[in-house]
Amino acid sequence: MSRYIINGRKRLSGEVEVQGSKNSSLPILAATMLTKGENVLFHCPVLSDVDAALRILRYLGCEASVQNGAVLVRTDSLSGCEIPDAFMREMRGSIVFLGALLSRQRRALISHPGGCELGPRPIDLHLKALRAMGAEISERYGVIECSAENGLRGADVALSFPSVGATENIILAAVLADGTTTITNAAREPEITDLCDYLTSCGAEIYGAGEGCVVINGVKSLSACSHTIISDRIVAATLMSAAAVTGSEIYLGGISSTHLASIIPVFEEAGCEVFCRDGCIRFKAPERLRAPSLIRTMPYPGFPTDAQAPVMAMSSVAGGSTVFVENIFENRFKHVSELCRLGADISVEGRVAVVKGVKGLYGAPIKAQELRGAAGLLIAALAAEGKSELTGINYLERGYESFEQTLCSLGADVVKI
Ligand code: EPZ
Repeated sequence: MSRYIINGRKRLSGEVEVQGSKNSSLPILAATMLTKGENVLFHCPVLSDVDAALRILRYLGCEASVQNGAVLVRTDSLSGCEIPDAFMREMRGSIVFLGALLSRQRRALISHPGGCELGPRPIDLHLKALRAMGAEISERYGVIECSAENGLRGADVALSFPSVGATENIILAAVLADGTTTITNAAREPEITDLCDYLTSCGAEIYGAGEGCVVINGVKSLSACSHTIISDRIVAATLMSAAAVTGSEIYLGGISSTHLASIIPVFEEAGCEVFCRDGCIRFKAPERLRAPSLIRTMPYPGFPTDAQAPVMAMSSVAGGSTVFVENIFENRFKHVSELCRLGADISVEGRVAVVKGVKGLYGAPIKAQELRGAAGLLIAALAAEGKSELTGINYLERGYESFEQTLCSLGADVVKI
């Protein structure tokens, strides 16, 4: 099991181009199943979750390869309709293959997705919407069997919660369906907009992407295209947290400040200077961080739940107290006990965590248990005096591309063993 050895309190400096977005790449890779011809995806990050998505496509008979930093996918030879349990369990994002597979093959056999580290991760909203679009869905022996022998039809779907994955699955099921689909209370994340931009380039008719109501007019076919994946706003927030806890000034390239609109004010409240221009960010930390008072995670454009752990690491060494309210997932404070091993002063009550900033953290052995928690622990280790050993970095590598190299290029002391 690989691990990181981190020697903290090294000041960072320099510039980083922000990697492509994991949560945009996964639905777009699923969407390629709906196209004819060769798709070329630029700026697709090199991650274990992306590798898992490519394995699913190849298993289903598609051609998928990585050449010169671009991902090439041709799905004309797609022949299967079953995604084995082992693949489904590798990541939560596997569920987003359902809508596209069902649309393309009119049948899909999957199991419940993995990634249950944040809570039960139900898919009731996905299945309810697909049933409304004409799918027959049964669950037995751990297999979810979906079929739509006469193809999918447009429907009016109102989501009880603006679920990112459910919104993506409905869009993927709707673009080739018969008729019009309306999604009310749709998720508005930038990754949804990026998916819709890709599908529109392929010939889909989608209106209102990134807004609460999305309308999709089904078309007859979609043609493969080239698309550049947007940058990963959560990786950008993680790098800002790294600079904040080390009193550093860094530059981030290729990231939209719009996608960080609810994150930047938190860093500014902590005393950081954030200057945005033409897709670049100049980030400068203060000598002493001030604790942001209250952070509520919300659906986009609110503060993203995925940035909660890295920002909590920052608040653990800020002057004052920060209250975190985790409104999206039931169980997303697993990193707290490990942060406390480094000397953080955090108490958790249900969905609320109260962080009392301490003067400093001290290196210790720490263990990651999920992707963003791993990032938070890494940020805290960068702040800590002395050596930390972080295990469970396989979780980190699901979403962060060569992250130890990125941090070392900025002057951090992180060694992968
Ligand atoms: C996506 O997960 C992201 N994953 C998550 O990022 C992100 O945290 C999340 O959206 C929220 O922004 C990918 O895009 C691959 P949801 P998803 O459906 O689609 C409940 C990361 O670290 N819900 O918006 O699973 C659910 O239990 C990952 O990159 C239902 O109740 O999120 C949760 O409480 C972690 N029924 C809430 O909605 C459903 O059918 C948000 O889930 C679906 C969801």
